Amino acid sequence: MKLYPENQIKGKSKVNKKILVLSSSPRRGGNSDLLCDQFINGSTEAGHLAEKIFLKDKIINYCTGCGTCIDKKKSCSQKDDMTEVLDKMVAADVIVMATPVYFYTMCAQMKTLIDRTCSRYTEITNKEFYFIVTAADNDTQAMERTIEEFRGFTYCLDGSEEKGIIYGVGAWNKGEIKGKPAMEEAYQSGKSV
Ligand SMILES: Cc1cc2nc3c(=O)[nH]c(=O)nc-3n(C[C@H](O)[C@H](O)[C@H](O)COP(=O)(O)O)c2cc1C
Repeated sequence: MKLYPENQIKGKSKVNKKILVLSSSPRRGGNSDLLCDQFINGSTEAGHLAEKIFLKDKIINYCTGCGTCIDKKKSCSQKDDMTEVLDKMVAADVIVMATPVYFYTMCAQMKTLIDRTCSRYTEITNKEFYFIVTAADNDTQAMERTIEEFRGFTYCLDGSEEKGIIYGVGAWNKGEIKGKPAMEEAYQSGKSV
């Protein structure tokens, strides 16, 4: 087995981490999706195992707030692709959450996924998190509201650790992120997981 010194130095880190990348843009090959791929390129080159889920490919319905999972302690009453996504979130060591910025907040697909973790969020423990945001705006500071939304989620998860943020700013059109610093940042973040 190949050992990676950088991982050994970190002590608590391990090789072959399981990385789950949640790509929520409705634009396949869009800016945040490209940054997800860069992250994956870096992390797999470093010896980790990465899988991307393109949320638009999945049927994930809204949480209905029915209370079945919270009040009755039963599994979610909805039978859709969230079952499989939740299994993967629970099994992952690292979770990357990528969203386009819509009206200075996360997109609806990502929020829908977060709400649907309700039945199993207490099992999503001790994960390392990376956030990827893309926006037309060049102002990184203006992305903080969206990042805070992600933090609202990870605040609810025991042992979660925020490891990095990739700001894909200044990109409006699909693919415009190519050539911007965020591409290299995403690759390097993946590499240094
Ligand atoms: C509905 C909608 C709302 C948007 N709102 C914002 C916004 O508030 N601020 C901003 O800078 N860009 C905004 N944008 C631009 C997108 O964030 C930008 O095109 C981004 O690169 C999309 O990422 P994607 O290619 O991964 O989908 C918006 C785009 C759409 C379609």
